[in-house]
Amino acid sequence: MLLSRSFVCATLSLHRSQPLVQNLQSKLLTPRMATVVDSLASPPAGGTSKADPPEPEVYSDRWELLWGAGLARGERWDAAAASPAIVDLLQSGKVDVKGARVLVPGCGRGYDLPLFLSSGATEVVGLELAPTAVGEARAYLQEVKAAEGAAAGDMRVEEGDFFQWTDPRGGDGSWDVGFDYTFGCAMHPSTRQQWAHHWARHVRSGGVLVTLVFPINAEADPNVGPPFPVSPELYSEMLVPQGFEVTYSEPVPGELSHPSRAGREVMMVWRKK
Ligand SMILES: C[S@@+](CC[C@H](N)C(=O)[O-])C[C@H]1O[C@@H](n2cnc3c(N)ncnc32)[C@H](O)[C@@H]1O
Repeated sequence: MLLSRSFVCATLSLHRSQPLVQNLQSKLLTPRMATVVDSLASPPAGGTSKADPPEPEVYSDRWELLWGAGLARGERWDAAAASPAIVDLLQSGKVDVKGARVLVPGCGRGYDLPLFLSSGATEVVGLELAPTAVGEARAYLQEVKAAEGAAAGDMRVEEGDFFQWTDPRGGDGSWDVGFDYTFGCAMHPSTRQQWAHHWARHVRSGGVLVTLVFPINAEADPNVGPPFPVSPELYSEMLVPQGFEVTYSEPVPGELSHPSRAGREVMMVWRKK
């Protein structure tokens, strides 16, 4: 089903009402699949790809279907490694995560989690909706811990829905840092305002949200995905009203992107007021 722009606009304003939104979110019908081969559908780093399973009626059901069908490392959106862009951001000290609690929703196999931990975070949590992804990510983290020893620190994966989950340790507004990569663009366009609202719910005042904005493609139909085309302007439209101010915004140099994503990424860092 292809959602028209007017439908999306109407839905965005409706979504200012929370309970209605969550109800709608769980019932959203699946949009038309991207017809252009894209790096969330094709292998980003040379892996294999396979046919899409039939789209479910409820959009969010697609994730477990895809994971449950078997998603190998390097397949579809799985790049088998953290993006060099986030490695560079942390290593350059532009964002300091020492002593921080870090939340990574839609973490997939969890490649970003060890990176944040090794950059000095004290607690890193990946949040995943798809139970199969949770199992895959936990297995991956076990491998990392086995390779790096018991000192791998407090790094774990929780099963939950970003739109509903509350941190059992700290409650809402307790995360020092959030990281969003290939999560915002995976959200149904009609839930974007909710995506921003829930980022504001999770991140503490004075905390930091890092968004690696992808895929940027002004020519593409914004309602066809996932991945749904995004832009720095769109992220500002969504996040500024929720109390975030941008502190850093730079296009990602090609050599710091997974190869198939080069030229289509912008790194943005936000501070929650
Ligand atoms: C496009 S994949 C990206 C995964 C990962 N960020 C990566 O780069 O490999 C999006 C992920 O978000 C998860 N997801 C989708 N909706 C979610 C939600 N509401 N809460 C938590 N995770 C969600 C999916 O299961 C999927 O693994």
